[in-house]
Amino acid sequence: MLRRRKMNAENEANADTALLSEKQSDVRKNGSKRVLTYYKKPIGARFAAFALRLILFAFIIYISIPFLFRFSPTFRRSLIFMNYINLQPFHNLSQPEMHYGLNCTQPFFIHANDVKLGAWHIFPKQRIHECANESRLAAEDFNDDRPVFLYFHGNGGTRGGRHRVGLYKVLAYSSLNAHVIAIDYRGYGDSSNVSPSADGLELDANAIYSWLSSKINVSRINVWGHSLGTAIAVRLAGKLLKESSPNSVILDAPFTNVAEAAFSYHLAVVYRWWPYFCWFFSEPLEQTAETAFDSLKLVGNIKSPLLILHSMDDITVPICLGQKLYQKALNASNSEVKMVVFREELNYGHKYIFKDKELPKIIEEFISKTN
Ligand SMILES: *[C@@H]1O[C@H](CO)[C@@H](O)[C@H](O)[C@H]1NC(C)=O
Ligand SMILES: *[C@@H]1O[C@H](CO)[C@@H](O)[C@H](O)[C@H]1NC(C)=O
Ligand SMILES: *[C@@H]1O[C@H](CO)[C@@H](O)[C@H](O)[C@H]1NC(C)=O
Ligand SMILES: *[C@@H]1O[C@H](CO)[C@@H](O)[C@H](O)[C@H]1NC(C)=O
Ligand SMILES: *[C@@H]1O[C@H](CO)[C@@H](O)[C@H](O)[C@H]1NC(C)=O
Repeated sequence: MLRRRKMNAENEANADTALLSEKQSDVRKNGSKRVLTYYKKPIGARFAAFALRLILFAFIIYISIPFLFRFSPTFRRSLIFMNYINLQPFHNLSQPEMHYGLNCTQPFFIHANDVKLGAWHIFPKQRIHECANESRLAAEDFNDDRPVFLYFHGNGGTRGGRHRVGLYKVLAYSSLNAHVIAIDYRGYGDSSNVSPSADGLELDANAIYSWLSSKINVSRINVWGHSLGTAIAVRLAGKLLKESSPNSVILDAPFTNVAEAAFSYHLAVVYRWWPYFCWFFSEPLEQTAETAFDSLKLVGNIKSPLLILHSMDDITVPICLGQKLYQKALNASNSEVKMVVFREELNYGHKYIFKDKELPKIIEEFISKTN
């Protein structure tokens, strides 16, 4: 009897060897039963109980998410807009030069529809020397012949996000030598802390577009959207008259509509097999105004030439969505539509097309042809 107990204990001990230090193993070989009973068994048991609880907890979360998504608009908004995420909490958007390495950038605010929007004017490289002067450039100063890019960022973070600043630098400091206007929508960055919605973001886009087109001829404006920002750019440009449409619209990693984007999103893979996926995820996204982004429906109404950029290794917004939007635009639009695809080996993913050495040339050709 005693022998059997000892053997059981030893078997358990073998299973737990990884948890024991060498010294404890030695003690075990010497046949000390005390080590076996007081040391190992409780650790193994406690670990199993902990692991079980962890699995149960993860399972409850896994089951709850679809229900939260279906029934809580707040939860949906928080996943779609992610405006509360700020990876650079100690960066001050009022000091673009010091905190974001953007020389000679003017921070300013636009006030519209009871909302304050934080914005930057990044100057073309040919104007940077003017900043050495005490009389610094003003946000309204477009007094040259350079093109202007109006940038609409994607979800999460602020206009100061690294990949965003990376793109501004390409547009302003490469051969493109252009102005960039970047804004934060409501609820993002230093803009008013108002809950974001599709309609609200469209109002914000309209506000900055009106501000800009009151300063310069729209034939100098090029609208650039990235990710969720492509849907905002399409909502803006799709509703403008021909005479107030920008020189071009550039969509960087666009999607068709928010329901398809949710289905194709890489993390959705854990739910895609659920029989009621559409009921849980797609329907509430499509059928509530606050998240109703439908670029597929509006893209044909854009009167400006349209350029789509997409990387083949984009797992956040798969390229098939960009291609579908492109096909629809080709079919529906009367003006030029072009798509540029970046190969998988380049590893640009969802955010890093700005690193492409050819990009300034691609953009320059596209926006100047349209003049
Ligand atoms: C950011 O900078 C501005 C202007 O330099 C300053 O007024 C403001 O207090 C700063 N904000 C924070 C949170 O440090
Ligand atoms: C920006 O300023 C830094 C430091 O003053 C300088 O090294 C850099 O060359 C400047 N960049 C441009 C594009 O002028
Ligand atoms: C600074 O600006 C003034 C007025 O615009 C100009 O006369 C002067 O030459 C500028 N100085 C430099 C160093 O650019
Ligand atoms: C804007 O520019 C276009 C083409 O460059 C020109 O035909 C048009 O008259 C300009 N509009 C205004 C209001 O200056
Ligand atoms: C484009 O138009 C053709 C013919 O009108 C149609 O067969 C095709 O399905 C359309 N494609 C898209 C993506 O709308």
